[in-house]
Amino acid sequence: MANVKRLLSGIRPSGALHLGHYVGALRQWLAYESTHECYFMVADVQSLATRREPDPELAQHVQDIVLDWLAVGLDPERSSFVLQSRMPELAELTVYLQSLVRTGELRDNPTAREEARAWGKGNFTDGVNDVDFGFLGYPVSQAADILVFSTSPPAEGDALIVPVGFDQVVHVEFAAHIGRRFNDFYGETFLLPEARTSQVPRLPGTDGGSKMGKSLRNAILLKDSEEAVATKVRNMFTDPLRVSPEDPGHPDDCPCFLFRSAFGGEQLDLGRRREDCLDARTDCGDCKEDLAAEIQTVLAPIQERRADYAAHPERVAEILGDGTRRARAVATETLERVRDAIGISYPNLLDPGLRRKND
Ligand code: TRP
Repeated sequence: MANVKRLLSGIRPSGALHLGHYVGALRQWLAYESTHECYFMVADVQSLATRREPDPELAQHVQDIVLDWLAVGLDPERSSFVLQSRMPELAELTVYLQSLVRTGELRDNPTAREEARAWGKGNFTDGVNDVDFGFLGYPVSQAADILVFSTSPPAEGDALIVPVGFDQVVHVEFAAHIGRRFNDFYGETFLLPEARTSQVPRLPGTDGGSKMGKSLRNAILLKDSEEAVATKVRNMFTDPLRVSPEDPGHPDDCPCFLFRSAFGGEQLDLGRRREDCLDARTDCGDCKEDLAAEIQTVLAPIQERRADYAAHPERVAEILGDGTRRARAVATETLERVRDAIGISYPNLLDPGLRRKND
């Protein structure tokens, strides 16, 4: 039988996607579509664990993400778009995995620790201002998100890859670790996942900050209008050492130039642009105008596709439904295998109603 090569990635729905997502993740996802069976998950349940307040715009965020995925050209016939909260198998698998994890391991997780600090989720050591259970445990449910896509049964040569940003690698490694522990404890059940990080340097924010983020207010959204893009680019930080146009530029430290390298492609003749900047032959204002036009070239077809789908919300709902059902078909098989491995299938004890597969 041919090997099964699967891919799973996910994102918390906290707003529409931006150019940083496009450069750092979506462009790679598009390339994987031709080689892997892809599942892209909107992690709405995880977003509950990592928030302090209810988000009245959650539904909007979920829709924005699905629209953005379609807009960049991910193909819903090939890839499955999955809504996490509609996969009860994930909750079930999370519980099984929990008994293989020690709380100390969760407290040691550097990404969760950093997030807890940044988002005021309590700290990991102080018994008074303690972190909440869901937050501490979210890497376990993320491990379930990943392991549920293990092939069934795993065969030599199968693969499960998880393309993520650098901060998420610890979570994927944790999932592999828990999967291995499960295999050691109950017998070979899970294919172990592998993280894939993008080789592309992270796109900075328009404020020159190291990361573009919607909540950081330094993002250019995939759905931003031409005027919004032009304004954001015009206000972008450039080279702080270049006070007057006669000063030589420092393109390698300039967010504008980094953007241009991400979007201009080869036709831009980046080497020449770089020289022009170093020798003060170009002006930052002109450079920004060119950049805005280049971004617009990338965004125009994306936005056209987005508008088409946005005009047909029933089609978008169907796509999310189909993708989630395909993911559940995989998850149902995985959970059957997991229950068998744990020894809770009870074939002779249960009547067919209780033995029935998840519906
Ligand atoms: N933690 C990821 C984020 O911060 C989202 C996510 C949830 C995820 N489940 C996943 C990523 C599984 C990769 C694989 O956005």
